[in-house]
Amino acid sequence: MDRLLVEQLIETAIRQLEFSYTPYSGFKVGAALLAGNGAVYTGCNIENAAYTPTNCAERTAFFKAVSEGVREFEAICVVGGKNGILTEYAAPCGVCRQVMMEFCDPETFRIILATDREHYDIYTLKELLPLGFGPANLK
Ligand code: THU
Repeated sequence: MDRLLVEQLIETAIRQLEFSYTPYSGFKVGAALLAGNGAVYTGCNIENAAYTPTNCAERTAFFKAVSEGVREFEAICVVGGKNGILTEYAAPCGVCRQVMMEFCDPETFRIILATDREHYDIYTLKELLPLGFGPANLK
């Protein structure tokens, strides 16, 4: 991926940390989802007093895009850490990987994990969700 684009996605994801609503865990996550049309959809995690309604940053970004008619995606950048301090990668949870599987090509969709704009690694969805179950299995 183009390095400048990766850095822009990292900065956008980091900016979402301030919107993260985490009164229970204090673990703040930000996401920047690059759609096929070039638009970037942002997301943060949103917790809930009943705990299970909590929505991860990645799914917030996906659901914002899909709810606006966008279903093609190139990459997502995810950053996160306790109290918004980014010391290590915040890898997507299993539920978020499954949501990615619904809309993304596992061979080409990129997941960028970063701690700052100089420190990141890029994975394919297939690497993070091997043998994933998706729409193709139901054809
Ligand atoms: N979280 C995310 O936003 N994304 C992930 O992939 C992992 C977990 C959030 C959910 C919850 O608000 C907090 O991190 C602690 O689990």
